[in-house]
This record gives sequence, C-alpha cells and structure tokens, in this order.
Amino acid sequence: MDARTPFHLEPLPATFGARVTGLRLAGLDEADFAALYEAWLEYGLLVFPGQNLSREEQVAFASRFGPLEFRLAPISNVREDGSVRLPDDDWVQVLKGNMGWHCDSTYMPVQAKGAVFTAHIVPASGGETEWADMAAAFEALSPEMRARIAPLSAYHSLRRSQARIGHDYRKSTEHGGYGADVETPPLRPLVKTHPETGRPCLMIGRHAFGIPGLADAEGEALLDELLGHACQPPRVWTHAWAPGDAVIWDNRRLMHRARPWDLSKPRVMFHSRIAGDPATESAAA
Ligand SMILES: [Fe+2]
Repeated sequence: MDARTPFHLEPLPATFGARVTGLRLAGLDEADFAALYEAWLEYGLLVFPGQNLSREEQVAFASRFGPLEFRLAPISNVREDGSVRLPDDDWVQVLKGNMGWHCDSTYMPVQAKGAVFTAHIVPASGGETEWADMAAAFEALSPEMRARIAPLSAYHSLRRSQARIGHDYRKSTEHGGYGADVETPPLRPLVKTHPETGRPCLMIGRHAFGIPGLADAEGEALLDELLGHACQPPRVWTHAWAPGDAVIWDNRRLMHRARPWDLSKPRVMFHSRIAGDPATESAAA
C-alpha cells in the first residue's frame, strides 16, 4: 500500500496487470474507486482474489466503469439443472471460440470498453484466462511494420470467426446468437489510439479478417504475423482461477482468451461487459 492507493497493488511479472488486495469491491467509496480506476488505466488488468461477489455486487461494480453492454452473462458449460453441456451444444461452441485471442465486441458496431469476470466453479486443471498487451505489442513492432500497418484496417465478424471453428452461429437457438445478427462486419483500423491513455494499441484477434487493399492470403498472413508477435512474453499473463476471484480488464488495450480444459468438467464464470463510448469505440465503417 502506498500513499497513492488505499489498497495493496502488486504488479504482475508482465508488461501489464496487477494483483489487488486489501479492499472490498462491494462498497468502495468514491475516493477508493477513483484510485482504482486510475490503476486500471495504468495496468489494464486488475486481479482481485477472494472477492466472492454476488451477482448484484458484480453488476454494481461493473456499472461504476460506465454503462453496461450487458449486465451479467454466464460463461458456462453447465445447464441450469446442473448437467454439463455436450460437445455439440451451441454454448460449448461459443466457449471453444473464446479460446482464440480476441477483444470483446469488435464484431459489434461499438466495441466494448472492458469487462468484469468472476469465477464460480472452476476445473481442477486448465480453464485459465490469458491476456495479451496490445499497447506493449505495438511498441515492440519495428518501425517498418508500424509504417506498413498504419494505413490498414480489417473487418471483424463473430459469425465468421465461429464458422472457422465449424460453428454455424446463425442456427444457434439456445445461446441466443448475440453478435450473429450483424449483417455488415465493422471495419476497424489495425492501430487504435486508446482514448484515455493515448497509447497506440494493435487491434487484431480472431474476429479480424479481410484487410482492404490486400489479397486475402496476404491479409491473413499479416494478421497471423502480428498475432504471433503480439502474444508472447512479457506481453502475456495467465490467471489460474479460484472460485471467488474477480478481474476487470481494459478491452481497449488487452486481448484475452480462455485456455482449454476437459469440457466434461464444469466451469461457471460470470461476465459483465462495459459498453464502449460510441465517440471512441465505434467502427470506422
Ligand atoms: Fe471474450
């Protein structure tokens, strides 16, 4: 704990992220929240062990960061009756899709600002969440690559990224198909300036495809090259969950993915998605 922060903040051994203890997220006063928000902008990912937030507390905490894109969604392979979903289940297909690097809602007209994610039931092994720092990734690019990608954009589509893993998202009934009804994929620049820190960030990930001005194969090769460069130590961090953990990440700076686990084992997480500001998170077209 230092004079600046009313809680204990331990930076993670990566270019981003911090573990935060010594505070209760439910019931933060304004001054503590202001300090926490500043830490969130600085570190991009804050990990809070042992918070055991109720659903209402999670939504209330997420809402302090801005309007919500959605309040609380179970990210789970467990049905309401407690049975584990089968491999061909729509929800399991979505969970498999989440195992590819991505930013949330880049396939929507307005991409997300961030997310609060909490663990409720976790498998004994696997099922971690991993993040990657796209501000540090941009800074580590060669001047030649920076110049090459500066004028480029890519389309983003969830329907397409799910199709690449064999999931027809349009037919999804039980899941609801959030994001599958976007008919015109948004176009987003490969380099996006963070609206609050001013840092340029790479905007890539599994939803990105089709760079205008490049042949398909050339565009795919470039996106693969950027992804391979970006998601390497020290720009990645993996969190092994314990029930009761909460995190908040900055979706404008970090990509994330779930790590695989034995899908016959239950994993129940809750996700609250903070809406992007349309002034800064809207697609270019
Ligand atoms: Fe996600």
